[in-house]
Amino acid sequence: MAFHTRILLSLLFLSLSPLLTSCDKDLVHLHFYVHLLPNRTEVLVAKSDIPVPGSFYNFGSIVVLDNLITEGPENTSYPLGKTQGVMSVMNSLTVVWAANIVFTSGQYNGSSLAILGPDDITQPIREVAIVGGSGYFRMAQGYITIKTYSVNLNNGDAEIEVDLYAYPAKY
Ligand SMILES: *[C@@H]1O[C@H](CO)[C@@H](O)[C@H](O)[C@H]1NC(C)=O
Ligand SMILES: *[C@@H]1O[C@H](CO)[C@@H](O)[C@H](O)[C@H]1NC(C)=O
Ligand SMILES: *[C@@H]1O[C@H](CO)[C@@H](O)[C@H](O)[C@H]1NC(C)=O
Repeated sequence: MAFHTRILLSLLFLSLSPLLTSCDKDLVHLHFYVHLLPNRTEVLVAKSDIPVPGSFYNFGSIVVLDNLITEGPENTSYPLGKTQGVMSVMNSLTVVWAANIVFTSGQYNGSSLAILGPDDITQPIREVAIVGGSGYFRMAQGYITIKTYSVNLNNGDAEIEVDLYAYPAKY
């Protein structure tokens, strides 16, 4: 019995060891702003007639994103890249991101990170998973935190402040 347990434990350790060594990877922490501008850098491509109280978009809306990322909060600040993908609107003040953070300048130019997950915009700080990446970030894991920086209730323009924490694979 004890022998079998030991074998099982060592098998378990062997299967976990790639995960354990991945902790050696250097964490990349980036801080930036994303400019969400309806009808300019994001477009509503599918909509419904079910409004969500307090939301700019109805339940079921699919919004295609190609939003500018800048280093500082001003839209004239140094451009780092784009968020490209889709945001779907739930039947609450939650959107689900299925998008990429694509770097077009700076140290990570040409690389990207894939983000996937819900964002409850009523919360002061939200967390969305990083589920992969390309280039420098190939096989990356991590998460981003999102804070609403500003919202224009007249035209829906919004800006979010993002802290990104990614562990790129070293192989
Ligand atoms: C940048 O921000 C200024 C001031 O808020 C605004 O007038 C201008 O239209 C913005 N430019 C772009 C490209 O969004
Ligand atoms: C980013 O990389 C592309 C492709 O290599 C290059 O054309 C472009 O000049 C680079 N941009 C910056 C700002 O370095
Ligand atoms: C975006 O364009 C659509 C279609 O022209 C229009 O109905 C909507 O009001 C516009 N939204 C904004 C925020 O300008």
